[in-house]
Amino acid sequence: ASYNNILVEKRGKVALLTLNRPKALNALNSELMNELQDAMSTLDTDSGVGAFVLTGSEKAFAAGADIKEMSSKTFVDTYKGNWLSNWGSISRLRKPIIAAVNGYALGGGCEVAMMCDIIYAGDNARFGQPEITIGTIPGGGGTQRLIRAIGKARAMEMILTGEQMTAEEALRSGLVAKVFPKEETVAKAIETAEKISSFSQNHVIMAKEAVNQAYEVGLQQGLLFELRSFWTTFATEDQKEGMAAFIEKRKPNFRDQ
Ligand code: HXC
Repeated sequence: ASYNNILVEKRGKVALLTLNRPKALNALNSELMNELQDAMSTLDTDSGVGAFVLTGSEKAFAAGADIKEMSSKTFVDTYKGNWLSNWGSISRLRKPIIAAVNGYALGGGCEVAMMCDIIYAGDNARFGQPEITIGTIPGGGGTQRLIRAIGKARAMEMILTGEQMTAEEALRSGLVAKVFPKEETVAKAIETAEKISSFSQNHVIMAKEAVNQAYEVGLQQGLLFELRSFWTTFATEDQKEGMAAFIEKRKPNFRDQ
């Protein structure tokens, strides 16, 4: 498919998706979000793809939902149209997705980054939920995911004031996994995505699914979910291969069997 607002590239087993509306700092309009979902859902079922990297430009990952597009919407447009409810599909991808964030990740941009499994940030990254400053509130998961990522005190403060967070603070507070010089963020994310892609795809999906259960269920249910998933890995050849390779001091050859 050819897209107007995103670039899609396969680098080996890594699918690199680049938000590409530079003049609008990658503001997330409906066309862009539809393209992103179309590309992702196709690649998620492509067995040649092991993991995703989602990035923007050096200046902006994404400066939020497109304010010009949404400014004239009415309540009925949004409610009856079930507007933005499809954004969540990013968080339902089965394969891991790493957000490589340089520059602004604001509003919907911060929310999309938080839908990803791992965030790598460039040293110029700025995270924030400025919706309150333009007469609305977060709608893409900001009030829920930011709290879970960094705790209530700072998340509440950011959401109520619109104040931004630097890359350094995002690292300290656990929102991002690593920070790099901005020129290196994408390459490092691809490196990690390649590493993930070298493992049993079956088990990578299973591990991601189990981690995400921690957001959904209580501890005992989560532990049981994990244990049952762990047990099922022993029904696979990849488990036999992985452990045999360790004992025989060689590299494993995972075949998703
Ligand atoms: C539409 C946007 C935009 C946005 C920037 N632009 N952000 N257009 N929607 N969210 C456009 C500007 O209008 C301008 O286009 C061009 O991008 C460059 O932006 P500038 O403001 O000139 O750049 P700069 O001075 O460097 O400031 C960068 C900025 C600022 C601090 C990121 O652009 C900004 O505050 N943007 C809005 C951030 C925001 O409020 N995001 C939350 C949106 S609400 P022109 O053509 O004028 O030159 C939201 C709700 C999500 O995301 C809920 C649902 C998921």
